Amino acid sequence: MPESARERVVTGPDDSVSSPEQRAAEMLRDRAGRNSNSPGMNDLRPRRFADYIGQRNVVNSIQIAVEAAKHRGDTLDHALFHGPPGLGKTTISQIIAREMDTTLVHTSGPALERPADVVGILSNQKQGDVLFIDEIHRLSHAVEEYLYSAMEDFRVDFITGTGAFAKTINLPLQKFTLIGSTTRAGMLSPPLRERFALTYHLDYYSDDEITQVVKRSAMILSVPIDNAGAEVIATRSRGTPRIANNLLRRVRDFAQVRGDGTIDAEIAAEALRVEGVDELGLDRLDRLYLETLVRQYSGGPAGINALAASANEEVQTLEDVVEPFLLKIGFILRTPQGRRATAAGMGHVGEDGTRRGQGALLW
Ligand SMILES: Nc1ncnc2c1ncn2[C@@H]1O[C@H](COP(=O)(O)OP(=O)(O)O)[C@@H](O)[C@H]1O
Ligand SMILES: [Mg+2]
Repeated sequence: MPESARERVVTGPDDSVSSPEQRAAEMLRDRAGRNSNSPGMNDLRPRRFADYIGQRNVVNSIQIAVEAAKHRGDTLDHALFHGPPGLGKTTISQIIAREMDTTLVHTSGPALERPADVVGILSNQKQGDVLFIDEIHRLSHAVEEYLYSAMEDFRVDFITGTGAFAKTINLPLQKFTLIGSTTRAGMLSPPLRERFALTYHLDYYSDDEITQVVKRSAMILSVPIDNAGAEVIATRSRGTPRIANNLLRRVRDFAQVRGDGTIDAEIAAEALRVEGVDELGLDRLDRLYLETLVRQYSGGPAGINALAASANEEVQTLEDVVEPFLLKIGFILRTPQGRRATAAGMGHVGEDGTRRGQGALLW
């Protein structure tokens, strides 16, 4: 264990947004907010287990693993967090490093392009450090191979030179903890997945939990909000803390310009209507997806590539950001033939599912 508590968190590029569109939108918002004194996105991140709202089973389990490792003076086992974007995977990883009194080194699958990148990072890990790899499903196969022995035996073998000059170098590593984060657990290769002793799935938050997130963030941002106002924002946040925080900022701006700065149910509902967020929390992109599936493909089945082309969106954005919540609320189904809209999904965009022929799903 390191003698002194190190709180240094080395972070890569902004990890608080996921799709290129969101990233662009977030950048614009950051720019807009730069000259105000309001705390940035990072200040809303819970810093300790005690501040982390919801995900009780996950937190209880990981907290025991952390306590036990600390008690033994050992490092924490490798851990994998998977689930939709914005649910707190990065946040809990940072909390783990902090609670373990270690340093977190932040990188991502796409950033580790060449084997040399990963060997460099691994050899710099100190005893007990946390290496956080975001979007770990996007590691190249060559890089992934280095992680196998690094995770299992804390060593890497690499070859320098070519032909007759080729030489294998065996490099021992300090015992570190790898924390992987992914929106696509299914895309991890089995050998990599098996090397994580701890695997956790983060699921959507309940309305109550998201209401707590909204109130906590409002307090940090010094925004006056009443219960009903927090609930309106929460029920339209698709069970996702990141969305709740983003909507809270939009509503705060609206309340400042159109009201006296206080957020109540009426102001919140009006602000979100202006933002294009409906009562279920679906935004323009969610509705575009549904409308495309329902109107252009008669409710499906439609392949994801065809849907993405029709909606002029990236497949990955639809799969990672849009579909998981529509699946959860039963608006769409993934079938071997493609995506289908359910009667509820059709109803939401004003189509009567029963009217349609083959494409209709009658339940
Ligand atoms: N359990 C939680 N309690 C309070 N706020 C949270 C929680 N989980 C996430 N957040 C907020 O949501 C934002 C997104 O979380 P993040 O960890 O970046 O999600 P992910 O890595 O899963 O995409 C964070 O900035 C944080 O403010
Ligand atoms: Mg993240």
